[in-house]
Amino acid sequence: MGFQWDDKYSTGNDIIDQQHKQIFAYLDELEDHIENGASQEWVETFMSAIGLFTRSHFCFEEMCMRKAKCDVASQNKVQHTKLLAAFSAAQQRFKNEGVTDELLSHLQKFLTSWLVNHIMKIDVHLNDCQE
Ligand SMILES: [Fe+2]
Repeated sequence: MGFQWDDKYSTGNDIIDQQHKQIFAYLDELEDHIENGASQEWVETFMSAIGLFTRSHFCFEEMCMRKAKCDVASQNKVQHTKLLAAFSAAQQRFKNEGVTDELLSHLQKFLTSWLVNHIMKIDVHLNDCQE
C-alpha cells in the first residue's frame, strides 16, 4: 500500500475524487504486482485498463473545469496531454523491451508522483471555481 488518500487531495467534486481514488487503487495494484512478479500479459492488460480509465477521467475532469470556467482549465488540458504522451511512450517501451521490474517500478513512481503533484497544483483549483 504505497499511497494514502488525504482530504488535501479533495477537489470538492465527489465524482472526480472517486476517479482519483480509483487511479491510486490501480497504482497500488501495480505495486503489488511489482513485489510478486508481473507477467507480460498482465502488464498489457493493466496498461490498457489504467489507460482507458485515465483517458475517460481526464475528459470528464476537463469538461467540469470548462463548465465551471476554472482559471486552470487550459493548463489542466495541456498537462493531461503530456501525461498521456508519457504513458504511451511507456507502453511502447514495454512492447520493445519487455517487462522488467525496473521499468515497472519507474512507471509506478512516475505516475504516483505525477498524479499527486498534478492533483495538488491543478485539480484542487476545482474547489474555488465550482458553484
Ligand atoms: Fe487534472
